[in-house]
Order: sequence, then structure tokens, then C-alpha cells
Amino acid sequence: MAPAARAWRAGGAAARVPAASSSPRRGTERPESSAIVSSNLQWGGRFAAGPSAIMQAINASIGFDRKMWRQDIAGSLAHAAMLAHVGIISAEDEAAIREGLATIGKRIEAGEFPWDEGLEDIHMNIEARLTQAIGEAGKRLHTGRSRNDQVALDVRLWVRDAIDGLSGQVEDVMRALVARAGEHAGTVMPGFTHLQPAQPVTFGHHLLAYVEMLSRDLSRLRDCRARMNESPLGAAALAGTGFPIDRHMTAAALGFDGPTRNSLDSVASRDFAAEFLFCCAMCATHLSRFAEEVVIWTNPYFGFVRLSDAFTTGSSIMPQKRNPDAAELVRGKTGRITGALVGLLTVLKGLALTYFKDMQEDKEGIFDAAENLTLCLAAVAGMVRDMQPDVARLEAAAGAGFSTATDLADWLVRELRMPFRDAHHVTGRLVARAEAKGTDLAGLTLAEMQAEEPRITEGVFGVLTVQASVASRTSFGGTAPGNVSRMAAEWRERLA
Ligand code: ARG
Repeated sequence: MAPAARAWRAGGAAARVPAASSSPRRGTERPESSAIVSSNLQWGGRFAAGPSAIMQAINASIGFDRKMWRQDIAGSLAHAAMLAHVGIISAEDEAAIREGLATIGKRIEAGEFPWDEGLEDIHMNIEARLTQAIGEAGKRLHTGRSRNDQVALDVRLWVRDAIDGLSGQVEDVMRALVARAGEHAGTVMPGFTHLQPAQPVTFGHHLLAYVEMLSRDLSRLRDCRARMNESPLGAAALAGTGFPIDRHMTAAALGFDGPTRNSLDSVASRDFAAEFLFCCAMCATHLSRFAEEVVIWTNPYFGFVRLSDAFTTGSSIMPQKRNPDAAELVRGKTGRITGALVGLLTVLKGLALTYFKDMQEDKEGIFDAAENLTLCLAAVAGMVRDMQPDVARLEAAAGAGFSTATDLADWLVRELRMPFRDAHHVTGRLVARAEAKGTDLAGLTLAEMQAEEPRITEGVFGVLTVQASVASRTSFGGTAPGNVSRMAAEWRERLA
């Protein structure tokens, strides 16, 4: 260790960091300090003195990028195997690297790895400990590679894993919705526009609307995965390398479709991450709209559904309260997930090619968005399975607000050959009459109806119930119970 570096450590660098600047943006615990190795080891040839405390505080990413330790080790294993295969390092060195990395992986998993902020990030923490453990061979690992392609690789691998996990969860929410939709294919409820009663629909149809949205979220995640599935490893710092590396080999070993095709693009681009964050933000937005409905539906004035104690909380002062906190938090977390997307796009917009340290700011947003979307999906799956619709209240509400007025107008068109615009007008007058009488449309007598339109017959009463209304909506994609049962069955099969 260089004397200057030793002196810097002995000075207790971390303790000199001002309190304000030592608290990073988001949940980044300080790594335990057991600085056996100084960061200067990595580029000590050029740098005589260690970094100032504030430099270390702003520079270090180990507090959050250690989440990528599995990806970093996987990348190094593939790289070392390739280096040995093409004869850049010996088989013995590769074996030592492999064993050393396996031991490091076990120590990290057991929570026994001595993270060192002085070693800046996950890449240098692992490499330095490897070299400490196996000597010379560890120092050969970084041949033909740079942290620039290494971090681009690790983030891709992390995002790819996150996509796989989230996709499974999206499917789980879809399955939960489909099951409830099947149960409630014939349960009527008010359909809204402007949050005003519009036309009766079925509860199952309403739930299947979210299944459609989530299926697009799923396909977006799949597209994103397919597009990003190229390996940047071997782009090195930015220009590629003169070593005879085999990028196709490492790409295949890591499950990529192939290597990226331009070294500059490989280290400079994070559009895969931005695309992933858009997928997360869009999915969270869908979940948030559902959550908003749960908040409305569980309000006692609506009383459409009830959540059990499992997904509600009480109030510390108001004993009667049952708050839909899980739904509120799904809605609330959507803000930070969308924030991560905006944050990353903003970080990228001013960057010339290629790598800048700005890009280190990509990670916390990515991790935070993925982890919070995981929570949101789990909470929504739980609420969907938990919620108990109040069928009687839904039915009563479905009929309120003259919700079958359109059915009446359609009847006038069908039976009396009235132009729709005229039918709309006549129906409007009948609604006004019913409102004045304090009844719904079916509460008008035939004589009262005929006062507005003499050709109306008894037959009109057949279309004024909510059941008749939803049963008539048999157009493809319409709310008729038969449609909903068929659609739920179709989804059940697709998701099986
Ligand atoms: N921690 C860095 C990041 O997240 C790794 C890459 C550092 N590369 C460099 N040239 N300083 O972006």
C-alpha cells in the first residue's frame, strides 16, 4: 500500500465527511468500514494521494450497487473462462479465479463480506478481495475488460433478472383477476364515465379490463427483454480491445443472444434501462388506477367491496376506521416509479459519448422502481384475492342514476325506427319526468311514457332492468355475462 494511502486511511476519512453529504438520497446504508485495501491500489500508478473524504462520499456507489454482486460475479466467471479458453490467462489462473469468486459469493451471501467504501463500487470490492485472496491470478482478471463494460453488463443482467421476476408477478395478478372475473361474470355494477353513473356493466368485465392492461404490460416487458438481450462485455473502456477475446463466447455463457455491435454504444447507452423503467411506470400506473378504484369502492358511501383486516389498517384514534392503506400505497408508489424514469432520462440527455460518472446515478432509480413495483404487484394480487364484492349493493347502484336510459333510447330506435338523435331527445324528457316524479325509468307508467311518445308499448319495460341491459351487450368485447365467462375462460387457458 502506498504510504499516502495509508496516511489517508489512518486519518479516518469517513468521520470527516460532513453529516449532510453523508446521507445519500435513498436507503443506502453505509458499508461497514474494514478498509484493508485502499482504492489507490486500482490506479495507484498515477495517483500518489488518496481521495478527499468528500470525493469518496460522492464517488462511492458500493452502498447501493452491491445489489448487483451476483451479476458481477457471473460476468467475471464468464470473462475468466473466456480468457482461459483463448489463452490470455492460464487454466490454473482461471481455476483460482473461479474458486476465489465462489468463496466471495458465499461470504456475501452469508453477510460476512467486508464491504469497503474506499473501494468505490461492487466491481472493485470484489476484484480487490479476489486479488487479496488468490494473489497474482486475481490481478489478471481485468484483462481486456473495463469497469465501463463491466457495469453496463451488470446492470443489464440485473434488469433482465428483474424483468423475469416482475413478469411472473404480473401473470399472478392477471390470474387473480381472471379468477374473480369468472366468479362475477354476471354480477352487475355501475359503469362510470366522469365517475358519473353511465351504463350497467358486470364486475367481471370490469376486472378483465385490468387483465387486458396487464397483458400489454407483460408484452412490453418481454419486448424490452428481447431488445436488451445483448452483451456489452468486451467493449472494454470504449474502443474495444487488442486482446483476442471472444465476445460471442461470453455472450452465450451469460444467456445473451449475442454481443452488442458497437463498443461506444455498449458503454454509453442505458436506453434499455429507460425502457425498462417505462415498462415499470406504465404497469404501476395501471395498478394505481385499480388502487384508486379500491379506495373508491371501499368507501362506505359506495360500499362496493370490502377488504379484510389483511389489507386494511385501523386508526389510532377513530375506532370505526378501516383504511385501504395498501391501495393508497400502490397509488402513492407509482409516483416514485415514474420519477425513476424521468430521473434516468434527465441524467442521460446531456451526455456526449461515451461513459460519464453521471451514469452511476442510473442504479438507485432502477433498483427502487423494480423493488417497489414488486411490492405493488404483490399487494394488488393480495387485494384482488381478498376483496369481497357486495353483490346486492352493486346491483342497487347499477340501477341508480337512470343507467338504462341508453337502453330505452336504443329500444325507440329498434322498435319505432326512430332516428337515434330523436330517441335521445325523447329519452331525455322521460328521464326528466322520472326525476320529477322521484322514481327510476321503470317507475313511470305506460301512460306517462306515451305522453312523451304515443307509440311506446309495454314492451319497453323489458329493456329497463340492469340485467336486461348487460345481457344485451353481446357485441365482441361487450359486457354481457356470456361474453365475460367466455373471455375469463380464454384467459384462464392462456395463463395456465
Ligand atoms: N460505479 C461505476 C458506475 O456505476 C462503475 C463504472 C466506473 N467507470 C469509470 N470509468 N469510473 O457507473
